[in-house]
Amino acid sequence: MLFKVGIILGSTRTHSNTAGVSRYLESLVSQHNNDKKATLKSNSNSDTINRMEVEVIHLTNSPGHPLPFLVEEPIMAKAHRPRNLSELSELYIDSKIQEWSKTVLQWDGLIIITPQYNWGYPGILKNCLDHLYYEFNKLPLGIITLGGTQGGLKCFEQLKIVCQGALNMNLIDKNVAIKLPKHFIQGENRIKGSYYNNNNNQNQNIDKDEDDNNDVDAQDESWLVEYQEELHVLLEQLVDKMKFRKEEQKR
Ligand SMILES: Cc1cc2nc3c(=O)[nH]c(=O)nc-3n(C[C@H](O)[C@H](O)[C@H](O)COP(=O)(O)O)c2cc1C
Repeated sequence: MLFKVGIILGSTRTHSNTAGVSRYLESLVSQHNNDKKATLKSNSNSDTINRMEVEVIHLTNSPGHPLPFLVEEPIMAKAHRPRNLSELSELYIDSKIQEWSKTVLQWDGLIIITPQYNWGYPGILKNCLDHLYYEFNKLPLGIITLGGTQGGLKCFEQLKIVCQGALNMNLIDKNVAIKLPKHFIQGENRIKGSYYNNNNNQNQNIDKDEDDNNDVDAQDESWLVEYQEELHVLLEQLVDKMKFRKEEQKR
């Protein structure tokens, strides 16, 4: 089975650690897909092979974004649920929200990657959630947060209440809280996340800065690789939920 997974980035900063974590996660998804392709060669039953295709949403520059701040739209949680979800987009006034609705409806699952800002999550992320309602219901969800010493746990708790409680998303058990080394918060450098496609190369291309007095070298992302296993667990749990949901929809 092929699953379409949306990844919403909570940060819109140009130099963003969140975007770096997303690149790293995307490389793990490719790795997962390659492993599954190898299994496919030795197993003709393609239905048992679960692969993922990701669509990353940058809330300021992906097609259809930025979304307007919610003002005129009807409150979907109060609106009558159409029998056919594809009719939902007709209820929206703004064409951008219609497009956002169609985008989310295509997904089999969602991963939100977000930093913690002042003990909460960014307002632009809340806005993109508030525009829709039924599109998110029962959608399998994984959450990855970033922050300092707690890895953004406070914003995880808030997102959990909103997504699981209000929007009725199907949150997986595993969440990943990425604790950013000081240098990645206060310094100029941000997570690159892209050159770990091949795990064996993880110490190649590391350009060490001899003058750097911080506890973690700016270019050394080996600390990020320590989250690899947790991220794999998150992906596996998401796949399980997506598979279950697809099978349920077929019935
Ligand atoms: C406005 C703002 C508020 C922040 N508040 C917190 C916070 O409450 N807790 C925390 O651990 N980190 C906090 N940080 C640090 C961020 O977690 C860190 O800068 C992270 O890199 C932000 O992700 P981004 O680079 O993708 O925007 C804050 C950063 C900003 C810009």
